[in-house]
Amino acid sequence: MKKTAMFVAFTAAVALGSNASAVTLTLACGAVGQELELCKAGAARFEKATGNTVKIFESPNLTNDRLGLYQQQLAAKSSDIDVYQLDVVWPGLLSQHFVDLKGKIPQAEVDANFKSIIDADTVDGKLVAMPWFTDAGVLYYRTDLMKKYGYTAAPKTWAELNTMAKKIQDGEQKTNKAFAGFVFQGKNYEGLTCDALEWVASFGGGNIVDNTGKITINNPKAAAALDAAASWVGGISPKGVTTYDEEPARGIFQSGNAAFMRNWPYAWALGQGADSKVKGMIGVAPLPAGPGGSPAATLGGWQLGVSTYSKNQDAAIALVRYLSGPEEQKIRAIEGSYNPTINALYTDKDILKANPFFGSLLSVFTNAVPRPSGPTKSKYNQVSQAFSTAVSDVLNKKMNGTQAVAQLNTELTRIKGRAW
Ligand code: GLC
Repeated sequence: MKKTAMFVAFTAAVALGSNASAVTLTLACGAVGQELELCKAGAARFEKATGNTVKIFESPNLTNDRLGLYQQQLAAKSSDIDVYQLDVVWPGLLSQHFVDLKGKIPQAEVDANFKSIIDADTVDGKLVAMPWFTDAGVLYYRTDLMKKYGYTAAPKTWAELNTMAKKIQDGEQKTNKAFAGFVFQGKNYEGLTCDALEWVASFGGGNIVDNTGKITINNPKAAAALDAAASWVGGISPKGVTTYDEEPARGIFQSGNAAFMRNWPYAWALGQGADSKVKGMIGVAPLPAGPGGSPAATLGGWQLGVSTYSKNQDAAIALVRYLSGPEEQKIRAIEGSYNPTINALYTDKDILKANPFFGSLLSVFTNAVPRPSGPTKSKYNQVSQAFSTAVSDVLNKKMNGTQAVAQLNTELTRIKGRAW
């Protein structure tokens, strides 16, 4: 056999799994923005390449709801889902239910990814999942309105954002009562943990629990960050912002009813779509900094892992390898502005043409601040819920920042117990 023919035969065998007969796999993927559509398209390409069949399991929008559902499936050792899309904060919670991909996916393919993400996906030496796309919070703004109101650059501080958003909102509300200065994810869920971590970290208030497991949230800078955010609600942000997750915020911005928006990169491709009212009028910048602090973007993103309860693990691993590989990540970056996790794709001309900010804001993506899922291990979800609830209380003016961080400190100490 010629070398190339041998290679083709080898990859086909890998793709099909060791028994080399076609199987049916079920893939659980997300549903925010274009996620479902692009997931289906990727699965269809795998089907074509390998002869396997992939059924798509539709998951809820909110990451919290997905986690609940997946935990039920996994606790029941259900073999219904072979491949799961996992949030970057879940490997510590779910590692026991996933196949160790170390040695099953060539090391060079693993090493091609951002090291920080591979580290997040590795629990006690086990590679729980392969990175699929990464996320970091960014600031979207309307370039046309910046010009109209005499601004030449995106705001560098939250105070500047407040001033600019107020001026634009006051002007625009004369003809459009629904216009908002700033929209973000203010609902009490995992997305609020992400947004609020950005406020706290950018004020120099740390990241809730530090790398050594020490609870650090009870400090004046963190309190000041939460008070600043509370001052936006009913000011530059509509009161309803405390019920928004990613999609409602995007809907308002994309229909032309907001000057600034905090969101993930996926909102870019949709904002440039044919049905977007703000196509060609969107700028993307790093999020602002607090007084004396520096900008912070929360690290988000999703991975693909193979369930230990899957009856077709070899084929499932082949699916993960296929979808997380460079060709698929490139398609998703161009069509959906999902950030690749593979370093080399950040110099790909087609990707940078479709998403200029992937290049100009590269350091935002490589320096994103992780949520404390590493140090808090299986208790992360409780920590995050306690944090977002405290933040939500401040946004809803039930307490101030100082009271909230003190109470949260007590609550986190209780959750921690003797150790995380
Ligand atoms: C995005 C992020 C994910 C985060 C979620 C919160 O999907 O990628 O990491 O948990 O938003 O809503």
